[in-house]
Formats: sequence, structure tokens, C-alpha cells
Amino acid sequence: MTYENLLCELDGHIMVVTINRPKALNAINMATMSELEHFFTEGYKVYPGLKSVIITGAGEKAFVAGADIKAFEGLDAKGAEKLSADGHRAYDAIENFHLPVLAAINGFALGGGLELAMACHLRIAADHAKMGQPEVNLGLIPGYGGTQRLARYIGKSMALDLLLTADMIKADEAKSLGLVSRVVAGDELLLTAKSMLSKINAKAPIAVSKTIEVVNAYYDPAKDGFKAEIEAFGYCASTEDFKEGAKAFVEKRPPVFKGQ
Ligand code: CAA
Repeated sequence: MTYENLLCELDGHIMVVTINRPKALNAINMATMSELEHFFTEGYKVYPGLKSVIITGAGEKAFVAGADIKAFEGLDAKGAEKLSADGHRAYDAIENFHLPVLAAINGFALGGGLELAMACHLRIAADHAKMGQPEVNLGLIPGYGGTQRLARYIGKSMALDLLLTADMIKADEAKSLGLVSRVVAGDELLLTAKSMLSKINAKAPIAVSKTIEVVNAYYDPAKDGFKAEIEAFGYCASTEDFKEGAKAFVEKRPPVFKGQ
């Protein structure tokens, strides 16, 4: 797929989606948001062997420094609600994507950038990365799900601390808060991301998808996550991959999963 603001590079079964606006520290404008939504709803379909996705930012300085502040000029209440709703739709498509999506946070992840990382299933950071929700500095609040997902990940007290002070935290603190799962040297970030996803890609694909779906169900007020788990467990048990996994265990050999 060719996009104006995203670079999509396939490495085996892993797609690396790079937000590519380095002069603006990869700030997300409307076109970038709509390209992200397109990739996660339509664009991925042209890669039938795809098993997982990495999202990262171009250059070493920023993952994404937020929504594009320069595009805010003239924004009124109605326009801002639409901007926010468009962002929610795109980020929800990422959160509910059937394949694992990992944010490789290679620098500043601020505002809509941290919100993008939080919509991903996995987050790892370079040791120089900094994260925060600085919207109150601009007279705004996070508009792409940040007030909700940040509280889910790090708890209400710490989320309100970061949201109200607009303080940035370093990668190590983000790890100690549980906001990212791993911190590595900048030059090891993509290798680590690919190695984590290669490990996941070797697991049973339906079980991987169902795990994402059921964990997401816990956070969806319209769903009963426990009930979803029971149904998904039953579904997984009906797959060829389950038969293969159990058989391979008994035969003391690695399983060969087909995603069936
Ligand atoms: N939007 C548009 N352009 C941005 C940007 C953004 N979010 N962040 C950085 N840039 C641009 C700068 O304007 C600058 O461009 P020029 O060279 O043309 O002036 C370029 O990127 C480099 O940035 P700086 O010179 O500021 O770099 P720095 O190293 O001095 O500072 C920074 C880095 C701390 C990240 C600083 O750029 C910054 O504070 N950026 C804004 C962060 C922010 O407030 N993000 C939240 C946006 S609002 C939002 O996201 C709302 C939402 O939830 C929907």
C-alpha cells in the first residue's frame, strides 16, 4: 500500500507502519489519521500472509508528538468533536485489530501520540523515549481516548497526575507504571519488537486473536468478558490448531499451526 504519511514495510509476516512526518515530529494530521484508519480496516487485506504489525515513528526523536497543533487553527466545537470522533474510530480499529499490534516508542509519545501507543496491544520503548498527555497546556483535553485508556493502564490517581500536570515521564518510569512492558536501547528497539512478534507469530493464530478479543471485552461495558472467555475457549477447542497443539505436546515436537 502507498500512503502519503505512512510508510508500510513488510518484513516476513510483520508489517512495520512508520508515521512519516519527521519535520513535525510525526504529528498526526487529519490525512495521517485517515490513512491509519484505512490501513487497519482495508489496507492490510492486500497482505494475506500478515501476522502482526509494528507502529513506530520516523527518525529517532519522536514516535508521535501528538495531534498536529498547527492544523488546529480555526477549529470550532463541532469541528473538534468530529476530529475527536475520527481519531476514536481509527484508534478503536487498532485496538480491535485481529492481529497483534505493537507500538515501538522510539522517542516523544505525547498527546495523540501516547494515545496511539495506548490503542496498540503491546508497547515497548527506547530508553530515551518520553511520554505524556500535555493537552491542558493547550487548553484541551486528550481527544483520542487518552483520558480513558491512561486510567485503565496506570490507575486513576497516576492518570490524573499526568493528565493535570502535563508532566512528561521517561521510559523507565513508564515501565514501572505498567504503561510499557519493556525498555531497550534505541538501536535495539525494532529488533526487540520484531523478535517479540516473531515469537507470537509462531503461536496458534486463532488463539492469539481470541486472546486479544477477550481481553478487550473486559474493558467494553457492552460485553461480559468472562462470558466472552468461555465462548472463545470453546471456539479455540474446536480448531485444528488445538488438535495439533495437543498432539505435538504428546509427541514431544514443536506444533505446526495453520490458523484453522
Ligand atoms: N503538532 C505540530 N507540529 C509539531 C508538534 C505537534 N504536535 N510537535 C512538534 N511539532 C513541530 C514543531 O512545531 C517544530 O516545527 P518547526 O521546526 O516548523 O517549528 C518541529 O516539530 C520540531 O519541534 P520543536 O522545535 O518544538 O522540538 P523540541 O525538541 O524543542 O521539542 C517537543 C519537542 C517537546 C515534543 C515539542 O515539540 C512539543 O511540546 N510538541 C507538542 C507536544 C504536544 O503538545 N502534543 C499534544 C498535541 S494536542 C493532542 O494531541 C490532542 C489530542 O489528544 C487529540
